[in-house]
Amino acid sequence: MLQQNKKITYTAQHYSNAETVGVVQDTTVFVPNMIVGEVATVRVDYVKRSVAFGTVEKVLKCSTKRVKPPCKHFGKCGGCALMHMSYDEQLVFKTTKVRNNLAKIGKLNCEVLPCVASPKVLGYRNKLSLPVCGSKGKVRIGMYQRNSHYVVDMDNCMLGADWSNAVVRVCRQFFNDSNLVPYNQKDFSGQIRHIVARYVDSQLLLTVVTNGIFNINWQPLIKGLTKHFGNSFGLFVNINTLHNNVILGAKTQHVYGLTHISSNHFGVQFKLAPNSFFQVNDGVKDGIYAKAKELLNTSNTQVLVDCFSGIGILSNALASPNYDTYAIEIEPSAVEDAEQIRLLNNTPCLTNILGDVKVELPKLTQQNKGKNISLVVDPPRKGLGETICNTIINAKVDNIVYISCDSATLARDLAQLSSHYQITYVEPWDMFPNTDQVETIVCLTRK
Ligand SMILES: C[S@@+](CC[C@H](N)C(=O)[O-])C[C@H]1O[C@@H](n2cnc3c(N)ncnc32)[C@H](O)[C@@H]1O
Repeated sequence: MLQQNKKITYTAQHYSNAETVGVVQDTTVFVPNMIVGEVATVRVDYVKRSVAFGTVEKVLKCSTKRVKPPCKHFGKCGGCALMHMSYDEQLVFKTTKVRNNLAKIGKLNCEVLPCVASPKVLGYRNKLSLPVCGSKGKVRIGMYQRNSHYVVDMDNCMLGADWSNAVVRVCRQFFNDSNLVPYNQKDFSGQIRHIVARYVDSQLLLTVVTNGIFNINWQPLIKGLTKHFGNSFGLFVNINTLHNNVILGAKTQHVYGLTHISSNHFGVQFKLAPNSFFQVNDGVKDGIYAKAKELLNTSNTQVLVDCFSGIGILSNALASPNYDTYAIEIEPSAVEDAEQIRLLNNTPCLTNILGDVKVELPKLTQQNKGKNISLVVDPPRKGLGETICNTIINAKVDNIVYISCDSATLARDLAQLSSHYQITYVEPWDMFPNTDQVETIVCLTRK
């Protein structure tokens, strides 16, 4: 049996998410930061029955797919898990991840196309959301260390572009100079919890999440942001007094500058509030929307429903005078944005519905019983779940495009839907390069 802190010679045999898996002395060992085929000296960190977790000490046989990670925080910061792989290998990893999840979780043997590359591999994120930790005058802002709640102070995150690093620097300086106290997760004391920012087409919206109502002079922060972003930014405060893992509280106040980001993507004019959902990688977002439009068969569609529609760029792009379009979204600010976008783009055949898909989709399918219904679903990581899948099956929806950000819950849902639907297209897309996350687009047609 393996012992903790002992060194072993380990061969990485296959991947389990971002970690490699190998068997040593009848124990299954999980080791991150390796590539399949590599051999390494590994320190055993933890053993429980026939499973162990280890850390690479020295790579003895190096894969040709290994590259020098461009970020100095790699390995320590929990943000990127694949930076040690060539980009080609990252794409192979993601294709394999989707294929394995469909086979193992969904028991599905369908063709999975190769993962589509992101136009940008670094500096692609249009959003940052970082915890603020440390002490008065010694504030740390960054990502959590892997498997821990320690924040690695970040001066240059390579997934964000120059804008995000400027925001972090300006905020850290402001918090330190103003003697603001970071939130303490243990005793719930302190003032500043998180910074959340979105940067699209040279417009920045920054939200500072506080642990209550405080009398803070924001002028130095506004001055610092003006230096970098001129007039093209808005500042907000969100108050979150609940002591849980949810980043944003219910209340957001506008402090200064822009109230929305305004732009035009995928042929749709839009306005985006600071806390509405927006895909993080602009280049991949537009590619996925185009693929969804191409895959959705609307030749006989009488009713189209876009479930989990966010601010509704896709709903507007898919709406047509040939059928009625409905968009269902649970977040009130996103539905407010969606309504403005509908008016801006003059899309009269689109109806935005504020509510839970679980409740609103059965109502819509009941109202449109007998009609030919097409569906787009783009749920959060937890996927559709049994109830929504049953609604789809019972309503005899004609065809579905499923956009997923978690291939494990996707596999579970497809297993249920495949009793009544043919899976005709599965394609992973690299929305999140250098991380182990993957987006997948799937097309289903009623059998
Ligand atoms: C992955 S995002 C997709 C948004 C949109 N399709 C897009 O491309 O921007 C998921 C969206 O579902 C919304 N949502 C989460 N749970 C929901 C529910 N039960 N009913 C309706 N919308 C929900 C979230 O607020 C979020 O906007």
